Amino acid sequence: MTSADTQSFFPPDGWRARSFVLRSWRAGDGAALFEAVDSSRSHLRVFMPWVDKHASPEDSERYARDACARYLTADKCDMAVLAPDGRVLGGTGFFGHDGWLAEGMGEVGMWVRADEAGKGLASRVLAELLRWGFTDWPFLRLSWRCSGDNRASARVAEKAGMRLEGVLRSYSVDPDGTRHDIQLYGIQRHEWVAR
Ligand SMILES: CC(C)(COP(=O)(O)OP(=O)(O)OC[C@H]1O[C@@H](n2cnc3c(N)ncnc32)[C@H](O)[C@@H]1OP(=O)(O)O)[C@@H](O)C(=O)NCCC(=O)NCCS
Repeated sequence: MTSADTQSFFPPDGWRARSFVLRSWRAGDGAALFEAVDSSRSHLRVFMPWVDKHASPEDSERYARDACARYLTADKCDMAVLAPDGRVLGGTGFFGHDGWLAEGMGEVGMWVRADEAGKGLASRVLAELLRWGFTDWPFLRLSWRCSGDNRASARVAEKAGMRLEGVLRSYSVDPDGTRHDIQLYGIQRHEWVAR
């Protein structure tokens, strides 16, 4: 995809994998999203500071509608990970700084609900996101950041073939002032094609 093409790029609606679907959040997703977050609070809270913003189904509905609008304008492309029956398994997405799509650079984020964690889901989702991102999206490079304390997240990136590119020392700060290193992983399209 050339930079001229990226001016007219609109995010594709979704991606169907064997055991899940990735798609933009939509109006009406609030109750299912709230159920997934509410049943996973202690699991998510360690690394996902946004979890308590979902204090009610209405908060989650507002988030789903905002996320849908941002997806349509390619401002930030948060997505649902849905089971074939529509259950919310987690959330993921592509995002970046201003001009991210024109520059072919995106970052991937992800969370998995507590009762689906440890079953290989995040590894499967990241593999599909790379496949989708390097084919239907204009990415030349995708990255992943995680706390140096988040071994599960680091393993997900490593298993997808992302390379540890650096450590941002003492880069994130918890509300109580505790500081953590951030590990930055990345993969370029030609590396993904060569795999
Ligand atoms: C991190 C997270 C996305 C991983 O999802 P998941 O579906 O459980 O991941 P997978 O089952 O694909 O497992 C990935 C790898 O991590 C390993 N792993 C899991 N927990 C681990 C831990 N506490 N320490 C070390 N490795 C761990 C698994 O064994 C697996 O590696 P393996 O296949 O070599 O055995 C999920 O736990 C989560 O949502 N955590 C809270 C939110 C979060 O931290 N998101 C990432 C932000 S960067």
